Amino acid sequence: MERREFLKSSCNVCLMLTAGLILPMLPGCGPAAYQVIHTEVRNDLIEIPLSSFTQQSPLQLVRPNGWLYAIAVRKKEDSTYSALLLKCTHQDNQLTASANSFNCSLHGSAFNTEGAVTKGPAEKHLKQYTVSADQTNLTIHLKAS
Ligand code: FES
Repeated sequence: MERREFLKSSCNVCLMLTAGLILPMLPGCGPAAYQVIHTEVRNDLIEIPLSSFTQQSPLQLVRPNGWLYAIAVRKKEDSTYSALLLKCTHQDNQLTASANSFNCSLHGSAFNTEGAVTKGPAEKHLKQYTVSADQTNLTIHLKAS
């Protein structure tokens, strides 16, 4: 192998290794941090099993079929639940979820787990849905909020 060929192939290997290490750290470039539950809307209600929530996974992302946005459903420490639409209130971009925030990749807005703006340019809270629970299911009420 000639020197030029060796350098070229070595650089390609370095680029691939760098991309493999850095891309997963960038929001939106790595594998999804949370599994998305795909579901149907019936009578303006969405039901998901309470068994979806565990101590290790108190946050579930629910995406009704045909919707552009997911709903982040969180089991809080006091065993109540919240449901927030992951649609940026600045210019409607989809938000990504992390452990303690929801972030917009378009202009950098961030929201806390209660849906309040922690970083602009967004100014409004995320849309919150009313939720209720019985022995087995959590119900998200799309009309009542
Ligand atoms: S659309 Fe989210 S910050 Fe602009």
